[in-house]
Amino acid sequence: MSVPDPSSGAPGPEAARAPAPLAAVQPQDAGDARRETPPPPTPLDLRLRALSVAARYHGVELDRDDLRVPEGEMPAPALLVEWVRGAGLWAKAVRMRWRSLLGITGGGPVVLLLNDGTAALMVRADPARNVVWLRDPLSSSDDMAVAVDELRLAQVWGGEAILVRRERGVTFDDEPFSFAWLARMVWVEKRVLRDVVLGSIVLSLLAIAPPILVMVVVDKVVTYQSMSTLALIALFLGAAALYEAYLGYIRRQLIQIVATRLDTKLALHVFRRLLGLSIDYFERTQTGAILYQVGQISKVRDFMTGRLLTTLLDFVTLLVMVPVLFWINVPLTWMVIGAAGMVALIIVIFLPSVRAAYAKWMDAEIQRNTVMVETVHGIRTVKSLALEPQQREMWDQKVATASARKQALGNISNWPQTLVVPFESFMNRGVLLVGAYFAVTGDIAVSVGSLMAFMMLSGRVAQPLVSTARLVEDLEETRAAVALAATVLNNKPETNNPGAGLRPRFAGAITFKGVDFTYPGSRNPALMDVSFEVPPGTMLGLVGRSGSGKSTITRLLQGINREYEGSIKIDGTDLREINLAHLRRSFGVVLQDNFLFRGTIRENLLAGRPGLTISDAVRAARLAGAEEFIERMPQGYETWIEEGSPNLSGGQRQRLAIARALIHDPRLLILDEATSALDPESEALVNANIQRIAHGRTMLIVSHRLSSLVDCHNILVLDQGRVVDIGPHKDLLERCSVYRQLWLQQHRHMENSGRPAAPKPVLAQGDN
Ligand SMILES: Nc1ncnc2c1ncn2[C@@H]1O[C@H](COP(=O)(O)OP(=O)(O)O)[C@@H](O)[C@H]1O
Ligand SMILES: [Mg+2]
Repeated sequence: MSVPDPSSGAPGPEAARAPAPLAAVQPQDAGDARRETPPPPTPLDLRLRALSVAARYHGVELDRDDLRVPEGEMPAPALLVEWVRGAGLWAKAVRMRWRSLLGITGGGPVVLLLNDGTAALMVRADPARNVVWLRDPLSSSDDMAVAVDELRLAQVWGGEAILVRRERGVTFDDEPFSFAWLARMVWVEKRVLRDVVLGSIVLSLLAIAPPILVMVVVDKVVTYQSMSTLALIALFLGAAALYEAYLGYIRRQLIQIVATRLDTKLALHVFRRLLGLSIDYFERTQTGAILYQVGQISKVRDFMTGRLLTTLLDFVTLLVMVPVLFWINVPLTWMVIGAAGMVALIIVIFLPSVRAAYAKWMDAEIQRNTVMVETVHGIRTVKSLALEPQQREMWDQKVATASARKQALGNISNWPQTLVVPFESFMNRGVLLVGAYFAVTGDIAVSVGSLMAFMMLSGRVAQPLVSTARLVEDLEETRAAVALAATVLNNKPETNNPGAGLRPRFAGAITFKGVDFTYPGSRNPALMDVSFEVPPGTMLGLVGRSGSGKSTITRLLQGINREYEGSIKIDGTDLREINLAHLRRSFGVVLQDNFLFRGTIRENLLAGRPGLTISDAVRAARLAGAEEFIERMPQGYETWIEEGSPNLSGGQRQRLAIARALIHDPRLLILDEATSALDPESEALVNANIQRIAHGRTMLIVSHRLSSLVDCHNILVLDQGRVVDIGPHKDLLERCSVYRQLWLQQHRHMENSGRPAAPKPVLAQGDN
């Protein structure tokens, strides 16, 4: 048994962790140097330290590993803010002046980003003496703070600061995804939107001018033949046209800004939310359905940044235009409004049936999409089992259903679209006839000019009126889209507060006590009253028939499923009290089938972890027995791996996966059937390294090949979710019938050939 190396592995409390982040900014020092004397802190360290102190003031420990800094670069304040927010605090990067700095009272230290790249903490402001108290992030307490006045501060500080506060209640980001949520997101942009609305009002006012002028031209210029009035009007119209063009440009520009910003925010938010869902959810739900439903976000986005905005602006136009119409002619205006009302009425009457048809079509689309995603996902199986005809048939069916429903939807929504046409034409042309009738009969005084002006304006009013009425329809579609996306996004996130929980440094002792667990939606418990202990630094083998709960034990340990009963402890700390990200990061996990990302071998091994370099990759590859084949490849660590890694053999892939699991030197390692799918030779290669890999770690090895577990300190025998026995191989062979049976099944041939019951396992490296 070995004592864990204190300078490596899982990050612990701040003080013990200081050296680790250095590798990120000093790549040349990486590797072994990282484990020895801590180099002096860099400016980045000071910044991170300052933020950590500020966060700790609010009771949250920041984890350096959560921050992804591009190698050798200074992270932007926005990235730092993101880091703090990720831990569940409120943070904001601001530019401040001396005045506002002085005005800050209470609320914990403020992180001042100094010009030289370092940081200081402002712990107190003293407006009476016109000084602030600054503290070095490395000093241990606020007592060491020094008073600094405006002049001295200005020499080192340009005004950049990060405010950190405790989040009050639920954050905006964590609220359920809904229409109201979207509306609030739009509302955040109210200042730009206000400008857009102002611009629109002016534009509408400008749009009123030409018809009015036409009225004047027709009634005055033509009737009285006044040339000077005509020239004036021409001048005015020209100027108005230019101004209109300019305002239109500004308005489009502003809309563009709002639209892009909303789009970005929505995209970031949705992905963050998706990542926050539990693995459990993804396992229960079809990938195709998830993708399709989340994809609905694009509809929401189109609506918010397209139709919603333009309709809102149209509405502004209405507010300006309608009074003018009334001023020109009251009865005609009422007719226009009445016709618009009829359009709205028709749309509303048809809404329920359109809605129902829409929902049906949507459902068919999801199913169709699921077939597509599943086929592409499982294309190897489809091809190798020659399932193409079946898949095609299934696809044909789904397409047929979807198009039939689309047709039905089209049929039903064709009706309102047809019925509104007469009313729209009435608004545009019929009013002219009525107006002409008035003019001729003289019932109501109508001049020819005002009639023309009315026609020009009502054309501009009719279209927004109709599009406002149509908005109801669009709203409906968007509501459905929001609901679909919400069925994915509003699932319970894995953890409500990613920053919460302990981050202990693990030695690796594992205790299960009376653990019961049933998968959600399943009737039979997967684990029943499971109790066992694993001393730190030892190997535990897990055996049992398929479905006996071996993988479930490893899943519970990693916090993938959390609704268990009983207690699971690591080093005496209850699993539920440990920070989830910290917990997962403390484990190295190798499964039967491991996903390698598109990228080079080096990138796959480092998996984007900050502070790790190629020398870490080499060390891990050597430990996993992967070095030998990597170096034989023409491009070595820079060899490109495609999705599904077709250019690697199973054994190579598995050794890469083991290297990846070892890259951060985890105290706890889980191998779940890691060698089961390998050919004997590859399996032997991997097994040969297990003893070396195990050194100084607690290992849980699940394997159905008992011979590879003979060397484990203890073997846990499971049957139908219950612990049958636990002990070393020799003891189990004597006293545990289930184990003996399993063993004999695999070694009968040896029995028959007269060999002793405990043959030398293939690649056991002897007891040590
Ligand atoms: N994600 C899951 N959802 C529902 N039931 C599951 C899930 N994973 C496993 N099970 C069930 O739990 C039991 C134990 O499974 P598992 O731990 O994977 O067995 P083993 O790894 O020993 O083969 C089995 O009955 C299995 O059907
Ligand atoms: Mg399993």
